Amino acid sequence: MTRTTEGAAVRHGPGRLVIGNLEINPPLVLGPMAGHTNLPFRLLCHRGGAGLVVSEMISAKGLQYRNKKTQLLTKTCPQERPVALQLFGDTPEVLYNGVCELEAAGADMIDLNMGCCVPKVRSAGAGIELMADPERGIACAAALVDAASVPVTVKMRTGLAGGDMRYIDIAVKLAEVGVSAIALHARSAEQKMSEKADWSHIARLVEVVSIPVIGNGGAVSGGDAAVMIEQTGCAGVMYGRAALGKPWLFGQAAAALERCAVPPDPNAAEIMAIALCHAQMLALHYGERVAMHQMRGQMAHYTRGLPHALQLRRQMHSVHALHDLKQLVCEYVKAL
Ligand SMILES: Cc1cc2nc3c(=O)[nH]c(=O)nc-3n(C[C@H](O)[C@H](O)[C@H](O)COP(=O)(O)O)c2cc1C
Repeated sequence: MTRTTEGAAVRHGPGRLVIGNLEINPPLVLGPMAGHTNLPFRLLCHRGGAGLVVSEMISAKGLQYRNKKTQLLTKTCPQERPVALQLFGDTPEVLYNGVCELEAAGADMIDLNMGCCVPKVRSAGAGIELMADPERGIACAAALVDAASVPVTVKMRTGLAGGDMRYIDIAVKLAEVGVSAIALHARSAEQKMSEKADWSHIARLVEVVSIPVIGNGGAVSGGDAAVMIEQTGCAGVMYGRAALGKPWLFGQAAAALERCAVPPDPNAAEIMAIALCHAQMLALHYGERVAMHQMRGQMAHYTRGLPHALQLRRQMHSVHALHDLKQLVCEYVKAL
């Protein structure tokens, strides 16, 4: 991260991501993913080369009610910076009140979730429902801008269904109320995650708004960030699912952006060392029992494509402590 000099206008452009007075370098963002982009995984992705990491969504109502689980989601540390904390909520008031806590927790920016389609979030009137009711969505973003001393960004989808292009009007208004950047997930709510993301929407948005656009959806390999920037002119690229079990992906993407040789994936033993490090950090953050439960899911990602992966994943069911995991991983690596 480079903090640009106060007053010096550093412009964003294709592959150049400047949010407020922060230049995000490389312009590669770990996208918010509930259940994944907690502090330990964000740290791994920062080390792996991400220029900006985003927390999983945090309920503004949960913060209001001082819910302990919600408060744990706000934890940040200096080594992962710059870090964005993402809020979801349904009214300007509840969102406004959440800002103070996120800033105190160390957020370098606050992201508003305007794209989540999961029933729990939708039925609470938040996420994509803010696109369904754009006036309320814009009022929510304006309230955050009003409350925050750090930049406010918004993450959204293209619209509710296939041909719905409401992202354009909404983005223009978001820029007018002072939002500093928009991450566009190039799929509609109806398309969920399965259909191919249509990057032409990202290109269209870049043409229309003067604030930086971060392209998201379907970037899989290290080389895809460079391709997305080339095809759309976006300022930065957000990786979601492709980063799971692959925090080094950002270093590969950064090398491709610099037109350097892309480093190969780590070998199986190196991947297992990263997985163990992940487990240790999760244990510190959540306690060992919860951490080992989470690691069952994470190991499925880390072992993708590795030899004897299925057997290792099955054995994960009997892992309840860090010690068990270390033993399992040691035996696996020895047998390679
Ligand atoms: C497990 C999971 C959890 C997610 N949680 C969030 C979230 O909390 N907030 C959000 O804005 N998007 C969330 N997303 C959407 C991602 O940030 C991203 O937009 C989506 O996965 C598309 O990018 P990709 O094709 O690179 O995976 C989530 C996606 C997944 C797979």
